[in-house]
Amino acid sequence: MRVLVVGSGGREHALAWALAKSDKVTEVLCAPGNAGMAAEFENVDISVDDHAALVELARTREVALTVIGPEAPLCDGIVDRFTEAGLRVFGPTAAAAEIEGDKAYAKRLMKIANVPTGEARIFERYEDAREYIATRDTGVVVKAAGLAAGKGVSVCADPADALLEVERMMADRVFGDAGATVVVEELLKGEELSVLALVDGQTIYVLDTAQDHKAVGDGDTGPNTGGMGAYSPAPIATPDVMAMVEREVLVPIVDALRNDHAPYRGVLYAGLMLTAAGPKVLEFNCRFGDPEIQAVLMRLDSDLYDMLSAVVDGTLADADIRWNPKPAVCVAMASGGYPGTYEKGKRIYGLTEAAAMPGVKVFHAGTAQIEDVTVTSGGRVLGVTALGDDIADAKARAYAAVDVIEFEGAFTRTDIADKAIRAADSA
Ligand code: AMP
Ligand code: GLY
Repeated sequence: MRVLVVGSGGREHALAWALAKSDKVTEVLCAPGNAGMAAEFENVDISVDDHAALVELARTREVALTVIGPEAPLCDGIVDRFTEAGLRVFGPTAAAAEIEGDKAYAKRLMKIANVPTGEARIFERYEDAREYIATRDTGVVVKAAGLAAGKGVSVCADPADALLEVERMMADRVFGDAGATVVVEELLKGEELSVLALVDGQTIYVLDTAQDHKAVGDGDTGPNTGGMGAYSPAPIATPDVMAMVEREVLVPIVDALRNDHAPYRGVLYAGLMLTAAGPKVLEFNCRFGDPEIQAVLMRLDSDLYDMLSAVVDGTLADADIRWNPKPAVCVAMASGGYPGTYEKGKRIYGLTEAAAMPGVKVFHAGTAQIEDVTVTSGGRVLGVTALGDDIADAKARAYAAVDVIEFEGAFTRTDIADKAIRAADSA
């Protein structure tokens, strides 16, 4: 069978790679894909926003299942288009994807469903938001309600900074209409955890856990990025924590979506803060986390095509899903300057040597192929991922592969997985 993966990041490369391992999958198409996907699969040059052309591709190439990677096409209704055309597609409808696409909607739904989350107020008028923040004497978090390419959240320890942020979002409209409504939320303290669950409308299957590293610098310093690395499993996700998240977060929000005429099918990603008062939701996403899913899929021992099909077909309750107990570590190699401005088009060396190292898989993110040369084309360039006998071994293998890859301006964090290594040492 032929499958189509829509997107061009590390997440999509990892999904395509895992789907290709299925006995049922004979061919993988990627649209638009990146250099790593081109080397292993067939890239078709169609952008993720050209829904009509993607539907046409799936139809003419007799694609058995299309998997949508990024949030933007999901929020724009690509799944609705594929379904109307009678095509099988993995991902939530536009109505269900609002859980990520509209943070004000997500907050209201969490309130109705009694899901633990930070106290928040929603503002549609700039003056009201200003007035409210001016009364605050502690830090707040200002969030553009719409999609802002991961940049719409500002954690402000000082309310004076929050005033500047709402001005940028609501008055200056730096994120366009995404900032027409803002959510002002209490600042939560604790360790963050990403929980990803497959949902087939009814049944919830929580994937093995992973921990992201959002800040650009070692020791979680500097500005937030899309994620500088991940490890799986995450020791902070104890069975108790996971049971609580399933009971207090996932079950009620999936029920609330169904009651709101937006039954959820696809992967639901809960971004959580593990506070002293228990886990609280920071956000929901309607897609796989990146880089989390790169580390998670390294450990999947089951057939991903069957798993995603079970979600589409509503048979997740019968799925048999197994994980490799060995841990995995993914280290993002980024372009100098990221998450600010950076240069593109830098030649990448050492990919073949890294690919030959035992236990290592190099997922491509921002890469492009120019004739026979692979060059950088984004902020996060590669997700260098390794399985190990234990977490320290997985880290060592991933960084050994990073060491043989070079491009001008390349940098990584040096402490990916250290939290898990410390947890393992003290256990
Ligand atoms: P979000 O897109 O809502 O997950 O926000 C992006 C990042 O901002 C999160 O991963 C957290 O690091 C941080 N963040 C969001 N909301 C809060 C909050 N209420 N308190 C503290 N940090 C937050
Ligand atoms: N790694 C964070 C995200 O995918 O949103």
